[in-house]
Amino acid sequence: MKALTWHGKHDIRCESVPDPQIQEGRDAIIKVTACAICGSDLHLFNGVMPDMHSGDIMGHETMGEVVEVGRDNKKLKVGDRVVVPFTISCGECFFCQRGFYSGCERSNPDPSKVKKMWGNSPAGLFGYTHLLGGYSGGQAEYLRVPYADVGPIKVPDGLTDEQVLFLSDIFPTGYMAADFCNIQSGDTIAIWGCGPVGQMAIKSAFILGAERVIAIDTVPERLALAEASGAITLDFMDDDIYDKLMELTNGRGADACIDAVGTEADPSASWDSRLDRIKVATFMGTDRPHVLRQAIHCCRNFGTVSIVGVYGGFLDKIPMGSAINRGLTFRMAQTPVQHYLPLLMERIQKDEIDPSFVITHRAPLEEGPDLYKTFRDKKDGCIKVVLKP
Ligand SMILES: NC(=O)c1ccc[n+]([C@@H]2O[C@H](COP(=O)([O-])OP(=O)(O)OC[C@H]3O[C@@H](n4cnc5c(N)ncnc54)[C@H](O)[C@@H]3O)[C@@H](O)[C@H]2O)c1
Ligand SMILES: [Zn+2]
Ligand SMILES: [Zn+2]
Repeated sequence: MKALTWHGKHDIRCESVPDPQIQEGRDAIIKVTACAICGSDLHLFNGVMPDMHSGDIMGHETMGEVVEVGRDNKKLKVGDRVVVPFTISCGECFFCQRGFYSGCERSNPDPSKVKKMWGNSPAGLFGYTHLLGGYSGGQAEYLRVPYADVGPIKVPDGLTDEQVLFLSDIFPTGYMAADFCNIQSGDTIAIWGCGPVGQMAIKSAFILGAERVIAIDTVPERLALAEASGAITLDFMDDDIYDKLMELTNGRGADACIDAVGTEADPSASWDSRLDRIKVATFMGTDRPHVLRQAIHCCRNFGTVSIVGVYGGFLDKIPMGSAINRGLTFRMAQTPVQHYLPLLMERIQKDEIDPSFVITHRAPLEEGPDLYKTFRDKKDGCIKVVLKP
C-alpha cells in the first residue's frame, strides 16, 4: 500500500510499504477514506519529538471502512464506517475503566524509555514515536487498529467523512480545552493559537456558554476564521497581549486561559520567547513555553489555565509564584478521545457544530509530503489538510 513515511527532520515521503496484518484477536484493519495532518505531526516533521525511526508511518487522524476483524472482536464487522481516536486504549485497565483513556497502561508495549523521561507512560498513540509504542499511523491506504473493540466509533448514516473525521483528535481536543475551563455564564475565555485546535476550542467555549472568547494568533486568515466564530481577536505581533487582555477584562485577567500552541510557539517581541529559541537551539532547553508563561500571567486570580498544546520535556521559567499566590488551577492532557466521542458525535448530528469548517486543503495521499510544508509554513491560506487515499 501507499503511506506517508518519516525519514528524518523535514523529510516525509509517500512510498510503498507492506499492507498491515491482523496481529491480535481484538484488532481490525481499516481501509482509510480520509485522514488529516495535525499540528502534533509538525513536531515530528520538525524533529522536535525524539525516537522516530526511518520509515515510520505517520498520521493519527484517520477514518475509514473496516475490511477485516480479528477473531475476538465482537464490536466491529466488515463494512462498518468508523472514526479512529488517536489514543490507543485497552478499555480494561485502571485508567481506561475511569475514562482516562489517554492514560491507558497497557497500550504502550515498551514503556521503559518514556518512564525515564516522564515518570510513567501514557497510552500508545498512532504514528507518534517509539516512546509511545511506535504504532504505524493512518496517513496510509490501510491502518491496523489495536483494541479496535474499544477505540473506533461507528459513523451514523447521513454524516459525511469531513463532518466526522476530526472526532479522531482536534474536535475532542478543542472541546476538552474548553471543558477544563469549567465555564460559567458571563465568562471570558482567552485562547492562544488559532490553528485547527484553537478553532475547535473557540467554538466549544461558545457551545459551553462563554460570553466572550479572545483569540490570539498572528496569521490573518486564522484570525479571520476565529472572528467568524464570534471571537475578539488579537495579533501577538502587533499587540502587547498582557496589556490588551487587562484592558478587555477591567484589569482582572481572563476567567480561563487556553494554551492551544504548545512547544513550538513563535517568538513575539518579548524577551522570554527569544531566550526560549536560543536555549532550544543550543540544547540548553527542551521546549519554548512562552505562551504558557503569558497564559499564566493573563489569567485572573483563581482562574484556570487549560493546556492542550503539547510539550515534551522540562520547561524553564514557568511563573509558579504567580500561579500559587493567585490560586490558579492547571488542567492539561493528551485527550482521552473515547471519553468525549459519544457526546460530540451527538453534537454533530444535532448540527450544533460542523467541524469541517477548518478544512482548506483536500488532496490525494501523494501530495502529502508537499502539504506538510504548506501546513507548517501556513502558506496558501492553509489551516487544515485532509488527505483522501
Ligand atoms: N492535547 C492533545 O491531545 C492535542 C491534540 C492535538 C493537538 N495538540 C497540540 O495542539 C497544538 C496546536 O495544534 P494545531 O493543529 O492547532 O497546530 P498549528 O501549528 O496549526 O497551530 C498553532 C497556532 O499557534 C499560533 N501561535 C504560534 N505562536 C504563538 C504565540 N506566541 N501566541 C499565539 N499564537 C501563536 C500559530 O500561528 C498557529 O496558528 C500543537 O501543540 C499540537 O501538538 C494537542
Ligand atoms: Zn493530533
Ligand atoms: Zn487501558
